[in-house]
Amino acid sequence: MHYSGKSKSQHVKEIFNSIAGKYDLMNRIMSLGLDKRWRKKVVNICRARPGMSVVDICCGTGMLTRELAEAVVPSGQVVGIDFSEKMLDQAVKNLEEYVHKDKIIFLSGDALDLPFEDNSFDGATIGWGLRNLPDVSKGVQEMYRVVKPGAMVVSIDMGKTAIPLFKQLYWLYFEKLIPLMGEIWASGRDQYCYLYESASEFYSQKELVQIFQTCGLENCNYLNLALGAVAIVYGQKPKK
Ligand SMILES: C[S@@+](CC[C@H](N)C(=O)[O-])C[C@H]1O[C@@H](n2cnc3c(N)ncnc32)[C@H](O)[C@@H]1O
Repeated sequence: MHYSGKSKSQHVKEIFNSIAGKYDLMNRIMSLGLDKRWRKKVVNICRARPGMSVVDICCGTGMLTRELAEAVVPSGQVVGIDFSEKMLDQAVKNLEEYVHKDKIIFLSGDALDLPFEDNSFDGATIGWGLRNLPDVSKGVQEMYRVVKPGAMVVSIDMGKTAIPLFKQLYWLYFEKLIPLMGEIWASGRDQYCYLYESASEFYSQKELVQIFQTCGLENCNYLNLALGAVAIVYGQKPKK
């Protein structure tokens, strides 16, 4: 993929800054309303419990961050971190009325250079974020570094489905229909072409499990959602 002479990070940041206001609506439409249910599964796999401190990397508009907060309140807290100012502004707006908003801190920062000490969190999540990083392994290593021994590292992202016919329909939906929907509802065809390109070039769930293992995580596995069109990949930092 080429990024018009920019770095991948700069390209990605510009994309998300430009679609921040319509991001949640498009997500709801593209996932046929299933995204909330998928996020709850991520929270379960992360084993988020009351009192825990969890970090949500590439938090965007804060939808997964909020689901995590629901699980860790009343005594826990969640830190959401993202490098797009506009996505973070939207996150703050989205949670304005949220009763537990005081349990959430939003920070601006890079997933490849997290501003946290080693072993800081009881869990780490990344929602549709790894695919956007110029170095996926480095992103996983950073998650590994900032969680405590025994904590879960969990990613949810587009997957590679192997089911015949569904596979063809899925890529057709991604390549042709989603950019059209982006043009209609989010005034951004190019941004949604990027979604197709980044998803088609991304690792399969099995390859991602291998990356998690190479980064030192244990008990790594994946859970297919929507027939493998979306997948949760996870692993646990060794207890020592
Ligand atoms: C597809 S959105 C996902 C947002 C959110 N996690 C969700 O579940 O809807 C990807 C997010 O990753 C952020 N992002 C991409 N690369 C990043 C990086 N290197 N550091 C921090 N954030 C990054 C983008 O700004 C964007 O908000």
